[in-house]
Amino acid sequence: MTLVLGIDSSTQSTKAVLVDADDGTVVAQDAAPHPDATEVDPHAWTTALEAAAGPLLPRAAGVSVAGQQHGMVALDEHDAPVRPALLWNDTRSAGAARQLVEEWGGPQACADLVGSVLVASFTVTKLRWLRDHEPEAARRTHRVLLPHDHLSRHLAAPGTAAFTDRGDASGTGYFSTREDRWRPELAAAALGREVELPRVAGAGEAAAETRHGQVVGPGTGDNMAAALALDLQPGDVLISVGTSGVASARTQAAVHDGSGLVTGFADATGGFLPLAVTLNAARILDLQARLLGVDHDELAALALSAPPGSHGTTLLPYYGGERTPDRPHAVGTWTGLTTTTDRADLARAAFEALGCSLADTVDALAAQLDRPVGRVLLIGGATRSRALQQILPAVLGRDLELPEPGEYVARGAARQAAWALSGAATPPAWPTTGTRTLTAEPTPEVREAYVRLREQTGAWS
Ligand code: XUL
Repeated sequence: MTLVLGIDSSTQSTKAVLVDADDGTVVAQDAAPHPDATEVDPHAWTTALEAAAGPLLPRAAGVSVAGQQHGMVALDEHDAPVRPALLWNDTRSAGAARQLVEEWGGPQACADLVGSVLVASFTVTKLRWLRDHEPEAARRTHRVLLPHDHLSRHLAAPGTAAFTDRGDASGTGYFSTREDRWRPELAAAALGREVELPRVAGAGEAAAETRHGQVVGPGTGDNMAAALALDLQPGDVLISVGTSGVASARTQAAVHDGSGLVTGFADATGGFLPLAVTLNAARILDLQARLLGVDHDELAALALSAPPGSHGTTLLPYYGGERTPDRPHAVGTWTGLTTTTDRADLARAAFEALGCSLADTVDALAAQLDRPVGRVLLIGGATRSRALQQILPAVLGRDLELPEPGEYVARGAARQAAWALSGAATPPAWPTTGTRTLTAEPTPEVREAYVRLREQTGAWS
């Protein structure tokens, strides 16, 4: 049996899955945590990768890394980090994003240039922030990598030149999705000096070898890897509820949404992956459980004991600032609290808020697609919650397909590794099994109350 290893270096942890290259059957898996912060020393990721993937790697003929998108790994000429990496969910570069969009001729010109209207998540905005706030670190920056590029190079034989893929590259803000190439002058203009960028490997290319001769695939961003794992078809929408909430779809043509709600990324197969992202997803539930002093099972039980609409309690869950809509400095807002509001209402309102926020992303995405939304698939750690499984289809007003629980980002990386190993023109066909349909009576009044609150607290942008 030929085995391949897929690695997901996410915001919270590294997960590694060892799978059968022929059919994707998982043979072994492991995980190791990351520091909980929005700036992280990249060594913490290599340490976690060694812990989670190190014992499995010798059994694999090929390996690929999928990583959290956008993070700025700025290295000096000896390839040492000039500072901790700034992550996708660090909003300190929001001002820099606005500045760059203006310099590039406004939102639509920006979307035409790089596929997306810049927000604080994009790497290029972090380069501008570095120029303006840490000029000494900016001066020492020689090369800029994404988290997955840094880890791929860690796995590759010493002396291998850095490489990336067009999926993750399209989240930097200095890659043209239209021309399918770096625009290094954009990175240089943001940072105030030229930097070296990794080679963009082809989809499914055997991009490098480990020191033991195992194939290393190009790797990709986490959202691209999840789409690859689930073999997303045109018309499918994939909702992922992790640290971020993401609605994504595969398209043949690039998307250039000047409204900024949808980012026009490339995917890991040669196509495109427009998506809409919220910064607040699973953590809405984490915070609610903490505030109520319960665990996640108790939170679900409480939520399911309240009626739809939570007796008029509504939450706008932009606790950590928000990206869809673009409100980097927003905070959470509760409304409708009365003397009879109880813990069950507060629990249910948190799930309904998450559902409404995800519904916003699905609507924004659907407006950019050239065909009606067909299947809607749901993945991510938070989907284990039975309250989420019941409340989400009600709030979204549609059936949802729930694939069996699994590490889909790591699995997508593994599928890419199997593809790179095979040398074939397309990824191997891996069956998906155990998908369940979630269905519920629609509750449109919940979304209406949410939209009213969102509009009261500021215009949709
Ligand atoms: C996508 C994004 C997030 C991260 C999470 O644009 O910022 O989904 O990729 O890891």
